[in-house]
Amino acid sequence: MKDCALKCIIPAPVSVKISGTGSFPLRELKKVHAPANLTRFGTEAQEMLSGFGIAAAAGPGSGSELRFALDPSLGAESWRMQVDKDGIALSGGDEAGVFYALQALTQVVAAASCDGPLTASVEYGIVQDSPRFSWRGFMLDPARHFQSVKTVKRVIRMMAAHRLNVLHWHLTDNQGWRYGTGIVTEKASRNTLTGGSYSKADLQEIAAFAKKYYVAVVPEIDVPGHSRGLIQAYPELACDPADPGSELCLGRAETLPFLKRIFGELMEIFPDSRYIHFGGDEAEMKHWEKCPRCLAAMKEHGFKNLRELENHFMRELTHFAVEKGRTPIVWGTGTPFPEDTVVQAWLDIREPAKHIANGNRCIMSVHTSYYFDYPADLSEPHESWMFALPAESVYMADPYVIWESDWKGALLGPEACLWTECVPEWRIIQKILPRLGAYAETAWSRPENKDWHDFLRRREKLRAAGYEDYLRSLE
Ligand code: ACM
Ligand code: ZN
Repeated sequence: MKDCALKCIIPAPVSVKISGTGSFPLRELKKVHAPANLTRFGTEAQEMLSGFGIAAAAGPGSGSELRFALDPSLGAESWRMQVDKDGIALSGGDEAGVFYALQALTQVVAAASCDGPLTASVEYGIVQDSPRFSWRGFMLDPARHFQSVKTVKRVIRMMAAHRLNVLHWHLTDNQGWRYGTGIVTEKASRNTLTGGSYSKADLQEIAAFAKKYYVAVVPEIDVPGHSRGLIQAYPELACDPADPGSELCLGRAETLPFLKRIFGELMEIFPDSRYIHFGGDEAEMKHWEKCPRCLAAMKEHGFKNLRELENHFMRELTHFAVEKGRTPIVWGTGTPFPEDTVVQAWLDIREPAKHIANGNRCIMSVHTSYYFDYPADLSEPHESWMFALPAESVYMADPYVIWESDWKGALLGPEACLWTECVPEWRIIQKILPRLGAYAETAWSRPENKDWHDFLRRREKLRAAGYEDYLRSLE
């Protein structure tokens, strides 16, 4: 049976109404008409259509055309697609909404074009859509295995095609410091796996590219643990430079001012990044426990243990971001943070409840559902401690788990994380693409519009139509 092209969109829209009175042959689309403030979308639509064998010129037409419009009454990021005898009308509540309508149309055109442009047609109907969550994140880790600017752009483009809108960029870790700054030098970008770092120009180029596709960049410098990359360049920031480990010394007077300078510089490089990630996960205590400076600082502040000193240190640092008008994010740990800090939950499904009860807003990245380094299939290379995470499990994970009513408004949304200890650059797209649509549907679509078997049908249809290959070709 021929699938209805309007019913092949991923992530699933809020509503798809087929009028049942006919269908529009795509070969009759002669003109693409975008008003002056949306010309970019007209050009992109022409390119997309020509890729599927449909030649449409720019400008208003007398008959069948593809029309673009802004309609603020639809709301942020929301969109509408209408197909009738006059052609196709795409509207968005804002520019992002228009862009998302065009991404959905690309899938519709692909699904309609299975047998080529001569027979491609789309049923008359109306699609209406808006996102469930404002935060639809994806985390990329260039610290363990570096990714080139080209690969990062491809990831952003694939995210945008699935209506994902936040790139969390884990720029530093034990294995490497991945960007050149005036403060931290080349020394810190050494890596046991692969070398490489982004220049300031690279970072700014990627931030501009992401902005063009309505993806916000959240840069992360992970401290005070996961900091061996930095300590390699500045051993004097370790508790014991002769036995440095991965943790910065919390008791040295110079550590905090040094980090404030680095984060200050990061905020200058990313002026549009409203959120700045400070890491804060998995700091070990064994060096702090033996460090006279750390122990003296703990005593001086009257703290009962070193975790309290760590929490104080992170609060001082994250407050610096608040003073600069940014919102800090940290990975969830056992310790509470001020309400102005967003906490990214990753340890277990009950974790957001604790952060939200504490007054924090939260991002849901529990590792058992959102860690894309885990193998989709156990034949993929993986570490012994990893869980299998097939697309079906990704799809079934609802970011709210079962406490939706308690969490209303406090859960910004989900974020999938691709850690790259086992993922060299050439495997990035292989790790992302098979599960990206399933994840996007949990981030964008309402639970009542989700259906695993219907998702599989849509995914298979788009795959057969060559849509995945189309995505792979995007830059
Ligand atoms: C983490 O996986 N250490 C946040
Ligand atoms: Zn110390």
